[in-house]
Amino acid sequence: MKDELPQLLPAHLGIIMDGNGRWAKRRGLPRSAGHAAGAANFKKITRYCSKIGIRYLTVYAFSTENWTRPAEEVSALMTLFRKYLEEALRDFRDDDIVVRFLGDTAAFPPELQTLIRETEEISAARTGMVLNIAMNYGGRAELVRAVRSIAERVRAGELAPDAITEETVSSALYTAGQPDPDLIIRPSGEHRTSNFLLWQSAYAEYVIMDVLWPDFGPDDLNAALREYANRSRRFGGV
Ligand code: FPP
Repeated sequence: MKDELPQLLPAHLGIIMDGNGRWAKRRGLPRSAGHAAGAANFKKITRYCSKIGIRYLTVYAFSTENWTRPAEEVSALMTLFRKYLEEALRDFRDDDIVVRFLGDTAAFPPELQTLIRETEEISAARTGMVLNIAMNYGGRAELVRAVRSIAERVRAGELAPDAITEETVSSALYTAGQPDPDLIIRPSGEHRTSNFLLWQSAYAEYVIMDVLWPDFGPDDLNAALREYANRSRRFGGV
């Protein structure tokens, strides 16, 4: 059946929510209208992922490079983050969703930082799907932060350089303790990683789709999940 869900689902799914600007442009609307439509879709797809049994979902909401966009667009995004985090606090309770943030959230306006902290604290006791929202996130910045924290442990005499393993690095990332992403979906047709989960995605399958994020629905997700289930993952073996 065309719309059927496969049996094999990724334990950890990443989504690069791309194409909001183009979606708005095609309709003659300001870019902020595209982000508003994208934010509404973020909520819909998150709840759908929780419903079908995805255990970890990571969405790319704001990169370390996005600050260079026009001030008006950045400000519209901050307003949307506030609105949707408030909603997430309330609505994700019924879905039992745990919300975590990946990235340097100290750079956001103080009210947003408070909301981020509250959202993490209140949802921490839940047991359902873990939703990681990558905000002011960059894969390289995350690795620099990890290297610094490992270097501090070496300087303090807690860790010998020879004892540093891949596990040491994984444990120093924002995603410590979580499985690596199995599948990363990039709507809007771009073939780039854009600094998303650089270390963690070493063996992730990528599915690029020609649909803009605000139009990306459960059927598109199901199609990506079927493509993932049909791929043979060899992790560098044969
Ligand atoms: C990329 O599209 C999208 C973003 C930079 C913003 C994504 C943010 C949301 C969908 C809001 C989510 C809200 C929460 C609370 C997580 P683009 O602007 O680069 O599109 P373009 O490539 O077509 O210009």
